[in-house]
Amino acid sequence: MFLLKVLKSDANLSELRAQSLGVLVFEGKMDEALDALGDLKGPIKLQADIENFNGKKEKAFKVTLPGSRIPRVFLVGLGLESEVKLDDFRVAAAIYTKEAQKSCAEELYLFFPKISAPLSQAIAEGCLLGSYQFDLYKTKKEKGESGIKDVYIIGGDDEFIERGVHLACGQNYARGLANEPPNVINPLSLANIASELADDMKLDCKIYDEKGLEEMGMNALLAVGKGSVNPPRLIHLTYKQAADSRVKVALVGKGLTFDSGGLNIKASENMRTMKGDKAGACTLLGVMRTLPKLNLQIEVHALIGAVENMPSGSSYKPDDIIRAYNGKTIEIDNTDAEGRVTMADILSFASGLSPSYILDVATLTGACAVALGPYTAGLFSNDQAFCNTLLEISSFTGERLWQLPLDDVRLRKRLDSPFADVLNSAGRYGGAITAAMFLREFVREGISWAHLDIAGVNYYKDPFGYYPKGASGFGVRTILEWLSKLQGP
Ligand code: BES
Ligand code: MN
Ligand code: ZN
Repeated sequence: MFLLKVLKSDANLSELRAQSLGVLVFEGKMDEALDALGDLKGPIKLQADIENFNGKKEKAFKVTLPGSRIPRVFLVGLGLESEVKLDDFRVAAAIYTKEAQKSCAEELYLFFPKISAPLSQAIAEGCLLGSYQFDLYKTKKEKGESGIKDVYIIGGDDEFIERGVHLACGQNYARGLANEPPNVINPLSLANIASELADDMKLDCKIYDEKGLEEMGMNALLAVGKGSVNPPRLIHLTYKQAADSRVKVALVGKGLTFDSGGLNIKASENMRTMKGDKAGACTLLGVMRTLPKLNLQIEVHALIGAVENMPSGSSYKPDDIIRAYNGKTIEIDNTDAEGRVTMADILSFASGLSPSYILDVATLTGACAVALGPYTAGLFSNDQAFCNTLLEISSFTGERLWQLPLDDVRLRKRLDSPFADVLNSAGRYGGAITAAMFLREFVREGISWAHLDIAGVNYYKDPFGYYPKGASGFGVRTILEWLSKLQGP
């Protein structure tokens, strides 16, 4: 899974001997792309012309040159140069890696005539993200299983390739965890994984069990876990470089290892894939695993509520009133709006650490997926500058974000409860917004806070671009790029 290595190469293309070469081609610019190939240019062009390949976006064309110094050449289209985005390079690199995986090549070379440092990073990311597959539980691996060991980016920038490798491995790690089934990952095993990760990466780790949570007054998180035989855990990981950490950040993740809906049980078709309700937590674990490799001078706390939402005689109920960690009372309208209830406690706890920023990541609402579709996450914030930074970063990580409003004027009053401080759900319309406004109730005033609703983007039934079937690992790269930027130059 992570066996693939991505490295730079200084090879001269007019002499290179290789099992496989991928060439990234702008639409209508075949000559420019192939000039450096010397004697192979003619035969490649001839085959491409016969099949009318001219570099259209996301199209790949395989040229076989039996007996030549490079027997397989894959041409991958980038679309028009005037319209190309950084993300198109990730996609093209993923397409090449996936196509080459079907052959028996073990060493892949990749060439783009106008390679640069940022492109080296994006291409490295694309190769690794595209080659990921969750096949842990397949006793027979799928046909065409990768024999690829190395990918060489010709003329690439060492440092940026390495950065891309770190970020993509973080994302693949998050995918791997999120893909694990709910009979394997429950709150307890997730906490164990986090503490092993902390050992490996030299992070501080504190796990709070149900007794500890009770003593602390984490009643909201505990309430959501009451129906399950697997008791909840709060996971607190800390990354801190020795002395002068410049900024303190708290990351909060929704870690519902399974969301059945609880007593407000989900319809069967909606319950499928709810192992993915821990995706926010997995994204944070991917981030924390990568931070030490980037060596940033900041202090980062990851707080994960690991809980299973199940129906039983001991479940929390509609009409329950619960006092959260910050003292606010929550009336339960719907037990399936459980993510926000667990996060109420964790956001309050995070606020107590007095960070400059709180960023939370959660598969929070189906409504967000309905509003934005399956390719864009919802972004909410109480700080427009913070929000703008995240939007800008998302435009080059390719993890699409769209800002949605916090509607204090009209929607906020739907969260008013007749008997408690706040209601945990406010109906279908504007559901992503009311959920975000519920979360904001538990963020201490004065702290810059942003919320990513990844319910639409965390899981894909059909693969596309550099996303395989299953968990996407969405958010890992955007968060890491943001944290890198926070450190300042
Ligand atoms: N985990 C779900 C949200 C979700 C839905 C994630 C689809 C991924 C895909 C969340 O806990 C939930 O059930 N939300 C409810 C809220 C409602 C009861 C107010 C929803 O979206 O229907
Ligand atoms: Mn739910
Ligand atoms: Zn949920």
